[in-house]
Amino acid sequence: MTEYTKAYFNAPVHERDPLVAQAIDNERKRQQDQIELIASENIVSRAVLDALGHEMTNKTLEGYPGNRFHGGGQFVDVVEQAAIDRAKQLFGCAYANVQPHSGTQANLAVFFLLLTPGDKVLSLDLAAGGHLSHGMKGNLSGRWFEPHNYNVNPETEVIDYDELERIAEEVRPTLLITGGSAYPRELDFERMGNIAKKVGAWFLVDMAHIAGLVAGGVHPSPFPHADIVTCTTTKTLRGPRGGLILTNNEAWFKKLQSAVFPGVQGSLHSNVLAAKAICLGEALRDDFKVYAAQVKTNARVLADVLMARGVRVVSGGTDTHIVLVDLSSKGLIGKQAEDLLARANITANKNPIPNDSPRPPEWLGMRLGVSAATTRGMKEDEFRTLGTIIADLIEAEAAGNADLSVEAAKTKVAELTAAFPVYGH
Ligand SMILES: Cc1ncc(COP(=O)(O)O)c(C=O)c1O
Repeated sequence: MTEYTKAYFNAPVHERDPLVAQAIDNERKRQQDQIELIASENIVSRAVLDALGHEMTNKTLEGYPGNRFHGGGQFVDVVEQAAIDRAKQLFGCAYANVQPHSGTQANLAVFFLLLTPGDKVLSLDLAAGGHLSHGMKGNLSGRWFEPHNYNVNPETEVIDYDELERIAEEVRPTLLITGGSAYPRELDFERMGNIAKKVGAWFLVDMAHIAGLVAGGVHPSPFPHADIVTCTTTKTLRGPRGGLILTNNEAWFKKLQSAVFPGVQGSLHSNVLAAKAICLGEALRDDFKVYAAQVKTNARVLADVLMARGVRVVSGGTDTHIVLVDLSSKGLIGKQAEDLLARANITANKNPIPNDSPRPPEWLGMRLGVSAATTRGMKEDEFRTLGTIIADLIEAEAAGNADLSVEAAKTKVAELTAAFPVYGH
């Protein structure tokens, strides 16, 4: 073996690429030292983390288990089949495709399966919490298809199902989509499934954000009301970056397989399939149900504390992991609050609230999600503390004297992060 080959196969990243190694180390420290409240994030288990970095990354495969275009796929077949079986068991459906590289890819495959360019798609308005892959103009889904939106009721800020029914009857979409990235309330799948049937539309539920809550039994399942379901394995499901597509429709299944490959994707991300299998296995365990219930409780506690301090929470609360805050109630905007929290080592993001400006710098909202901090073990007491820290910061910023508050908040955040370490810290 040459020196080159020896180093190639054995030198760790710290020796081989100090710049990248330093960035990874810094990210590890950032995750330990900050409280993560970005609602689409979570902290995967050590097993999932390990399953993302191993020799399966070298394996090129196209096709499906037992029917590949390349040889040598017998071990990747084992993990892909495990992911399929576990996804079906977890979500109580007959068919699963576990190959989508992301949630957006999963949705694209469904569009490829069910629609012809120009077909009408009806989905939740982006500012009301929808997702860009459901028909936003800048996304292929909105460029090649005809997007229409339904919205939330301006008073309750909950989906206006009567209005949705009226729009569906008027538009007659080929596909009705529900689900989103900032909708904090329970979704009425039965009602929307009935509306889809009434107008002759297929019904897609994109449960990317709430998949873990569905798996944990604290949000109703989209089955049997949805024709097809997509999700990410990140977020509340606590897995690697990637997507899933689920259905009970036998007639579609073969077409669905080819809609993913070769429809919108080529070869597998073989290593990610191993991590998906692990996260789905973890979600089948009883302790995941305990986790999901704690997520929902923690979000409610956070919303209650903020509302008690006069910070307006969109829709007056939450049924999920998301608390959407309207900063205009304190004379601020989302970007100010995001920057303010970042100074105190709390990570969150500005977000539109219903009927907000289309321009991100003007958004009035901030989205808070409790999934990652709940994974660290934080419960009601810690979320009461966090809510108080956030309310103190917002009030101080509104009064124009945030500096002292930021210093006090940083100390409290450091106490919390030290008490709830991640990985080997
Ligand atoms: C509802 C919904 N669908 C799809 C996606 C897209 O997932 P990805 O970022 O994996 O493409 C997201 C991501 O936030 C989402 O919230």
